[in-house]
Amino acid sequence: MCGIVAYLGGRPAASVVMEGLRRVAYRGYDSAGVAVASEAGAPLEWLKRAGKISVLEEALERTPLAGYLALGHTRWATHGRPDDVNAHPHVSEDGRLALVHNGIIENYLPLRERLRASGHHFRSQTDSEVVLHLIEEAFQGDLAAALRAALAQVRGSYAVVVAHTDSAEVVAARHTSPLVVGHGDGEQWLASDVTALLPFTRHVTHLQDGDVVVLGRGGVRLTDLQGREVERPRELVDWDAETAEKDGYEHFMLKEIAEQPSVVRRALAGRITDDASDAELGLSLEPHAIDRVIVTAAGTASYAGGVGAALIESLARVPASVEVASEMRYRDPVIDARTLVIAVSQSGETVDTLAATREARRRGARTLAVLNVKGSTLSREVDDVLYLRAGPEVGVASTKAYMAMLTVLTLLAIRMGRATGSLDDTLAKRLLDGLVALPQALESALASRERIRDLAPHLAGARSALYLGRGVNVSTAFEGALKLKEISYVHAEAYPMGEMKHGPIALIEPDVPVVAIATDAERYDKTTSSLQELRARDGFVIAIASEGDDEIEAHASEVVFVPRVDELLSPMVNVVPLQLLAYESAVALGRDVDQPRNLAKSVTVE
Ligand code: M6R
Repeated sequence: MCGIVAYLGGRPAASVVMEGLRRVAYRGYDSAGVAVASEAGAPLEWLKRAGKISVLEEALERTPLAGYLALGHTRWATHGRPDDVNAHPHVSEDGRLALVHNGIIENYLPLRERLRASGHHFRSQTDSEVVLHLIEEAFQGDLAAALRAALAQVRGSYAVVVAHTDSAEVVAARHTSPLVVGHGDGEQWLASDVTALLPFTRHVTHLQDGDVVVLGRGGVRLTDLQGREVERPRELVDWDAETAEKDGYEHFMLKEIAEQPSVVRRALAGRITDDASDAELGLSLEPHAIDRVIVTAAGTASYAGGVGAALIESLARVPASVEVASEMRYRDPVIDARTLVIAVSQSGETVDTLAATREARRRGARTLAVLNVKGSTLSREVDDVLYLRAGPEVGVASTKAYMAMLTVLTLLAIRMGRATGSLDDTLAKRLLDGLVALPQALESALASRERIRDLAPHLAGARSALYLGRGVNVSTAFEGALKLKEISYVHAEAYPMGEMKHGPIALIEPDVPVVAIATDAERYDKTTSSLQELRARDGFVIAIASEGDDEIEAHASEVVFVPRVDELLSPMVNVVPLQLLAYESAVALGRDVDQPRNLAKSVTVE
């Protein structure tokens, strides 16, 4: 949460930083600011504004800031309202020191009291400002030394970047919150994630906890918190800048929904054996050494994990469950060396998922990450990684990463089923053929957009909505409800369909529409009975049904047809109309689809 971008070099620094900030705005967007140094020794100039980056852009048009060094920040408020004063950068009273911070300084209150008592004047309500004063207090000409001295006194999480007019340097450090160095020829960048760097460089170094970095005219110097030199690898990012552009689509979310067929193709590429009877994942899985699988994740990734756990249990016959990471990290779970813990994450920076995975490791579990962002913190903390290859996901509401998670987890379940011997050749082949054919099925599912646009007013005007599914599609129902909530702000709840009659059915009224996934052929009669129970109570039911189902119209108010696929693969097809329903409802309500209120894409604080 919060996006940081900094630059030192020959280009107009404020413009470079603004370009980067626009690309990491999904990390937080309640206020933004930039501070610029025009020449060594001259006071810094800065602008900060409450609101989205566009507000800051307008201010910069009226008051341009020129310089060779700039620090920028886009905020997701934790301590202190989102207003101009609490926006970053925080700048010292003499205008010589500026700081941007992502994370939480947990002991800021006692530090602030002590600093106040010794004459420091605080302007904001933020936790971050204490670090500025601590650096000011310690500064004797060496900015990196002052930052180290300041950080020795704080507890919490940080990616912090500072500049002082007396040193033509940008100095930064990280603990828990991500920070990446971008390397150029005589120029360097810092950013919260690589997306900000894509227009400028693809040569990066991912900082690790405890790293302190100095960007200077002479290049990049890396040390630890004690000042000892450290070495980190330079990596080449294989994403290109265009994949993080809207490409003519009205919203990133819509573009990312549309990209899903090719996302599945990329996630499958090279991961199926030539005879299409097994998945090839390059993992040294010894399934007989695994008694139990726990999938841990947050939000949308946890719903993908729910599907994954169901598939692993069904195909590999290994007990598997999903655990929301924010609970698992504190729950004292039964985990040992015979447990495989699979952490699922788009960003690889979600603090709850990281903490749950660390806890699992501490207890001896084998850990595997199903992950999109290369070089992210999670990628360095697990035994194995399976990458999603989904490319940068910009919309705060996750769509294509979810699809890639389902693809990779399905491959993993097949591999585990083959390894345990519980998945026979015929079913493995059928599922793998089904996966290969899936992009085409997704194209057909995407073609339902027109139909869904007509149905969206039912959800946009709803008091609340219920999403129901069975089996592997219980998780799909949860994902559909989350999508609607987060971008349209219409309340929605999800339930296993059979649970309706145990309570939620009391909510049924014509203005509480029900979205029911009705593709499960094996339990079709149970599903239609549930739908009849809803209709008998004047429920308005939108059914997601398989093409060729002639009966469903008798049980639902409206139907959206999706291509018929194997039920175990159906979550991938069924989620598409649910994504589109959420999208069209949010558009109908005039919501900010890509940057919904109160959210941030990557949740790096507790
Ligand atoms: O980066 P991660 O996949 O770890 O993020 C997990 C959740 O924060 C994320 O999926 C969130 O729920 C999205 N807003 C869902 O659209």
